[in-house]
Amino acid sequence: MRLIYLATLITLCAANVQNIGIYNTIEVPKRYKPDWTDLDTRPLPEWYDKAKIGIFLHWGVYSVPSFRSEWFWNYWKAGMEKCNEFMRKHYPPGFTYQEFAPMFTAEFFDPQKWAKIFAKSGAKYIVLTSKHHEGFTLFPSKKSFSWNAMEVGPKRDLVGDLAKAVRAEGLKFGVYHSLYEWYNPIYLEDRRTGFATQTYVETKLWPDIKQLINDYKPSVLWSDGDWEAHDTYWNSTELLAWLYNDSPVKNEIVVNDRWGIGIPGKHGDFYNYQDRFNPGKLLKHKWENAFTVDSQSWGYRRNMELSEIFSMDQLLREIVPTVSCGGNALINIGPTKEGTIAPIFQERLLSLGDWLAINGEAIYNTSPWDSQNDTLNGDVWYTCTKTTYNARNPIAKPSRSDTVTAVYAIFLKWPGNSILKLKDVAPSMLSGNYHVQMLGQDGYLNWQIIEGVVNIRLPRKAVVKSEHAWSLKFSLKSY
Ligand SMILES: *[C@@H]1O[C@H](CO)[C@@H](O)[C@H](O)[C@H]1NC(C)=O
Ligand SMILES: *[C@@H]1O[C@H](CO)[C@@H](O)[C@H](O)[C@H]1NC(C)=O
Repeated sequence: MRLIYLATLITLCAANVQNIGIYNTIEVPKRYKPDWTDLDTRPLPEWYDKAKIGIFLHWGVYSVPSFRSEWFWNYWKAGMEKCNEFMRKHYPPGFTYQEFAPMFTAEFFDPQKWAKIFAKSGAKYIVLTSKHHEGFTLFPSKKSFSWNAMEVGPKRDLVGDLAKAVRAEGLKFGVYHSLYEWYNPIYLEDRRTGFATQTYVETKLWPDIKQLINDYKPSVLWSDGDWEAHDTYWNSTELLAWLYNDSPVKNEIVVNDRWGIGIPGKHGDFYNYQDRFNPGKLLKHKWENAFTVDSQSWGYRRNMELSEIFSMDQLLREIVPTVSCGGNALINIGPTKEGTIAPIFQERLLSLGDWLAINGEAIYNTSPWDSQNDTLNGDVWYTCTKTTYNARNPIAKPSRSDTVTAVYAIFLKWPGNSILKLKDVAPSMLSGNYHVQMLGQDGYLNWQIIEGVVNIRLPRKAVVKSEHAWSLKFSLKSY
């Protein structure tokens, strides 16, 4: 925030400011310049860091073949034998990908029902593919003639309908958006010139993004498909300056880091790096682990095998270390062409909700602690809560001036004799200021320190509420 004098507004002449007395000070929002250095100074909107858990939805025309993955069209055109064979066997000769679109019927799509499942899962935000690399838009794009869900297939504004339902459940709504389109002739023409022309960016990309932002006011703009061209071709910095300065979501929006060659991991409100990124250590900048419940695909596959679907233990092995290391978890499922969510995905989401109902206190609104996983037991991951929220650097370790009100140790494996041995909380326990309990259980646990290691006697596993990972809360006695 930049402070200016109220007088500035009256005189509208910055040069005179020094000569005018201080009548009053008001804060006006900083205006960001369209360069990365300036854009990088924007503080991360707090809601995003505190939310921790989101749900990612890959839904589009690829949900019709629902074979191999959402890249089906590209794999098929590239001559991948499995896809050729699939088409030969099941579709008439000469069948085109475009002919799948009318089969994207979504007749069972009940956005309220979806939103209720998402709310029950404990997720705090939803990110829907408004347009994947195939170019088909799930909203009535004014620039995507006959290749959008309003005109072909569902005959409905899927983005708008889901946005409304999700918000009615108190969740944030965001959109995924692919910068490039595999087979858009205008894009291909720009590419042919070595990206010297920007016709696609001017006539398609920007109008679409502005329509999305203005009409749906998303909280997340999750960019993708950036890797063939530089940010200067996409006009990424100009777009972000508009988002941060003048868009209707300027205070709310968060964007990821996929804005051109060399940008991922360097710029953006949060970093995704590559898909399924999970570094296992604390990073310096807010990040997000986007991963799939179906280990093989982001889009729905009709031939999924149960063994390919993440179990609850596998899900928590992604989520818990991610949050402990300063990340958010964006958990992907692919809805079907009929507009349903496969029961196996519903089951995983609802189980996650049960887990978070008990253990959510160790996840939501937490910050990274001094250690991420315990030195002695790497399957134990820490988070903490502090009296002050670090808005400038939300994923920093607690500073000297911070009061850590609670440390949470989430353990992924139940120890054989029900004694959990931890090294990194020993100094806190030795200080005498903390006691320990298990989330979901009454009363404090007994512990002792043996040779610098805290030995915590856990309750009998049979009486413990949480079925998967478990959270110990070391809380400051004075709180
Ligand atoms: C897009 O970028 C080009 C080249 O960097 C620039 O000349 C043009 O003004 C930009 N367009 C917008 C709308 O910012
Ligand atoms: C902590 O986690 C990282 C990443 O999973 C792992 O490489 C490391 O071995 C773990 N630490 C211990 C002590 O097991």
